[in-house]
Amino acid sequence: MVHWTSEEKTTIASVFGKVDLEHDGGNSLGRLLLVNPWTQRYFSSFGDLSNASTIARNSKVQAHGKKVLGAINNAAHHLDTIKATLHDLSDDHANKLYVDPENFRRFSEVFVIVLANKLGSSFTPSIQAAIEKFFAVVVDGVSHSYH
Ligand code: HEM
Repeated sequence: MVHWTSEEKTTIASVFGKVDLEHDGGNSLGRLLLVNPWTQRYFSSFGDLSNASTIARNSKVQAHGKKVLGAINNAAHHLDTIKATLHDLSDDHANKLYVDPENFRRFSEVFVIVLANKLGSSFTPSIQAAIEKFFAVVVDGVSHSYH
């Protein structure tokens, strides 16, 4: 099991206390779709994803970003049982949605950038380190059914 220091636990709780699931989730998913355009193939029912402004205005992107970040926020509240918490989602992504698990790591990268933009100079390297450790465990959890 992953060991979390009390500083890491406090940091993760504090960061997720500041996250706006819809706004930051939508921004993260939007950034994923723009920076890694091949990810758009999974969202063919979402309509026009052809450029930054159509993505920013796409309510399906916002709604789905909220769902994804909601699941990550839930994992942040279950740090000691992340794998079990994400088990069913991992199963669906592997066996129904057929999402390439490399994209989970890509999502974590864009989320860190969205956080850095949001928190500015208060997003210190030690906060980044705790969030990246958390995301490594999330990515491992959501990738579990692929192993
Ligand atoms: C990194 C962590 C991720 C988490 C925690 C996550 C979580 C979720 C959640 C909560 C749902 C909704 C499940 C439901 O409604 O029952 C979902 C659906 C979905 N996810 Fe993920 N997701 C992640 C990453 C990704 C990535 C990177 C992609 C693709 C690039 C992706 C593609 C999809 C698709 C295609 C659906 C179904 C969308 C629909 O048609 O409604 N997910 N995901």
